[in-house]
Amino acid sequence: MERLQTETDLRWNAEDRVATRQEIIAGLRGCDALVCTAGDQVGAEIMDATKLKVIANFGVGFNHIDLAAASARQILVTNTPGVLTEATADVAFALLLAVARRVGEGERLVRAKRWAGWGPMQLLGADISGATLGIIGFGRIGRAMARRARGFDLRVIYWNRTPLPETDEATRGVTCASFEDVLRQADFISLHVAYAPETHHLLGERQFALMKPSAFVINTTRGAVIDEAAMVRALREKRIAGAGLDVYEREPIIDPGLYELENVVLAPHLGSATIGTRTKMGMMAVDNLLAVCAGQRPPNCLNPEVIPTAR
Ligand code: DGY
Repeated sequence: MERLQTETDLRWNAEDRVATRQEIIAGLRGCDALVCTAGDQVGAEIMDATKLKVIANFGVGFNHIDLAAASARQILVTNTPGVLTEATADVAFALLLAVARRVGEGERLVRAKRWAGWGPMQLLGADISGATLGIIGFGRIGRAMARRARGFDLRVIYWNRTPLPETDEATRGVTCASFEDVLRQADFISLHVAYAPETHHLLGERQFALMKPSAFVINTTRGAVIDEAAMVRALREKRIAGAGLDVYEREPIIDPGLYELENVVLAPHLGSATIGTRTKMGMMAVDNLLAVCAGQRPPNCLNPEVIPTAR
């Protein structure tokens, strides 16, 4: 914010809430650049009503921005890859541990002042050491998750569109499997694919049916990678054991069924929420934005075809 205040004529949404489309359009009157977050839907209507040169996303995932519409209007779109890898993997692993060991349930018990003392059968969870973690999507965050898993003696299998070379798998202690085999074999299934039309509802009825009844699903990528209603049914009917979720299909709205379930841990999309990570994300977004304003190529451009010299 300080850099932007110094170097631009800055306007911002000072309220701690998501602005409506009309508010965004009104706020952008006369602006060349927009910094937006995962909560802001930036589509053609906003682009047509403004004169933006650049949309600098504060985050790596950009499914809330209509990239094709931006490219068609010669608007550059940038994001902040790399800097949130470790923080997001930390939260994925925290959700895995919390749901397996019933930390949320235990916390609710204590806070409700209903804990009557230690019991041999109390809140028995799932073993982590020796279990199998299935990672769906083996990019930066999936790999960071695998590194954490090895420290906890988990066996790691993964599915990725492009498998790693065998030597790389051996070094990382991971094994590639088909998508269905990961679902069938894993005790924990952690999603790390980017959201795109191809990954919409990657997990639905059919995929939940392949999982073990003892399996847990972890999601820190985007909510719509899972058919949330199908997941609620699978959880309710104990066809899977639990879920650790940081993201939801219609954020901030959450399927009401999820609130009623004990076997889920629900976090409010905080994967990248550390001081260090959010600072780096902000600085990257500003670097991208100021580069475009200075007529330079932004370091993290999602549609470089819009830059005349890149053609
Ligand atoms: C991202 O960067 O995509 C995170 O989900 C936060 O927006």
